[in-house]
Amino acid sequence: MARFSPEHLETAREIIARYPRPKSALIPLLHLAQEQDGYVTDDAMRHIAELVGVTPAEVLGTCSFYEMFKLHPVGTYLVNVCTNISCMLCGGEELLAHASERLGVAPGGTTPDGRFTLEEVECIAACTEAPCLQVNYRYVTNVTNDDFDRLIDDLAAGKLDHEVPPHGTLARVRQHIPADRTAGIVPVAEAAVEPAWMHANEAPGAGGDA
Ligand code: FES
Repeated sequence: MARFSPEHLETAREIIARYPRPKSALIPLLHLAQEQDGYVTDDAMRHIAELVGVTPAEVLGTCSFYEMFKLHPVGTYLVNVCTNISCMLCGGEELLAHASERLGVAPGGTTPDGRFTLEEVECIAACTEAPCLQVNYRYVTNVTNDDFDRLIDDLAAGKLDHEVPPHGTLARVRQHIPADRTAGIVPVAEAAVEPAWMHANEAPGAGGDA
């Protein structure tokens, strides 16, 4: 699959309708594409471009800026081991070496069965619980080598399916906002009064030549 499925297309249109300008939905739509396929495909970027009225290059420009969006297939479980300063001092580099040995892949690699991708990452903001890692962006803290092995065993056995969905799924409960509960968002072209933010740069002294 690459372009949005009919079901995801319906969701995409619902997301776009929440914004005054369609292109403001770009990042949520990239997450939706990644949820569908596990990564953001070229066709998905073209489809998003069509839906929000920008060029595929603009979609790529946004997508490639954010590390969380993957432009190539990754494992069902993306394991991010932190080796930044707090984690490094508490054994993060040794943990990464152990993870690499246990999974049989270097950081950046994916196991042959497509289940696990291992990444070395910068601080993931859980420094007081170092060393730590994330699996599909779910935190695991104070990790020992034995903890890591148990984690991989449990993931492989499907014991953590209820906690860790496949890569790309940010949340299992999707937000649906009924039309009568929205904030009254209308497309910019239909707005009775232009929103103030459209003129933010016209304020006196804002970036003038004075
Ligand atoms: S240094 Fe590892 S979470 Fe901050």
